[in-house]
Amino acid sequence: MDATIFYYTGTGNSLWVARLIAEELGGASLIPVSNQGEGERIIDTKVAGVVFPVHIWGVPAPVVRFVESLKSSHPVYFFGVAVHAGQVSNTLVQLKKILSRRGVPLSLGFEVRMPSNYIPWGGPGPQEKQRALFAHARDKVSRISDMIRQRAVLPVERGPLWQRIILTAFYHLSFSHVPGMDKKFRADDRCNDCGICLRVCPASNITLSEGKPLWHHRCEQCFACLQWCPAEAIQYGTRTLRYERYHHPEIVLRDILRSDE
Ligand SMILES: Cc1cc2nc3c(=O)[nH]c(=O)nc-3n(C[C@H](O)[C@H](O)[C@H](O)COP(=O)(O)O)c2cc1C
Repeated sequence: MDATIFYYTGTGNSLWVARLIAEELGGASLIPVSNQGEGERIIDTKVAGVVFPVHIWGVPAPVVRFVESLKSSHPVYFFGVAVHAGQVSNTLVQLKKILSRRGVPLSLGFEVRMPSNYIPWGGPGPQEKQRALFAHARDKVSRISDMIRQRAVLPVERGPLWQRIILTAFYHLSFSHVPGMDKKFRADDRCNDCGICLRVCPASNITLSEGKPLWHHRCEQCFACLQWCPAEAIQYGTRTLRYERYHHPEIVLRDILRSDE
């Protein structure tokens, strides 16, 4: 199908979902949201969509910026998939509003639950539970792809009312603080100067200084630096030392490296 799927990902869950949709559609261009640069982004296919993780109960800032830059010179069938770990909140309603300001109606908006990569609150859970989430996600993505093929138009999926009221408020309160939240990152003695953290950072927020990563307060909180560190040397606050690292098992490091690598 002549379709474009834009994706944003820290640990590969959203990329995996985007790839599955592309496969189910019989092919689609997959384009990372980071590395888009400044200026308007013209959608040049009749079908397009965006797949991204839910961050702090809403749409992550890079995805907001990206969607705000979208433009289409022809009617486009647009879909969105919010990949999350159990609390999608009002994310897809938010996406729909931003798109509609750009004159692009959101025809389909679905949530897909996957293992959590928010390591300050714990690891991704037991393997068995992860496998169950992947199997469920596969089925759901297949249904979503059928609907895309049929150009279905449906109300977007939403979390329960309490999430949409309380958690959406947290999203708005924290939004402007996200870039500086990297103050809690540090590298411990296991850091061996490999530089992978800076190569996976979609925000180019990390440099190495005397062999250790330095974060420059342009953080997007995707946790790629911590989760992809082969030495497990990167910590966030005090609790991540004891939690298991995660990335999607079918996504490898070279899939995540910035395209300027
Ligand atoms: C900073 C941050 C905030 C998150 N906030 C939420 C959230 O509000 N609700 C939720 O269900 N999952 C949340 N998650 C979990 C991710 O949405 C989930 O693990 C997703 O599958 C990760 O996708 P990715 O591998 O494509 O980055 C959060 C993860 C991070 C790193």
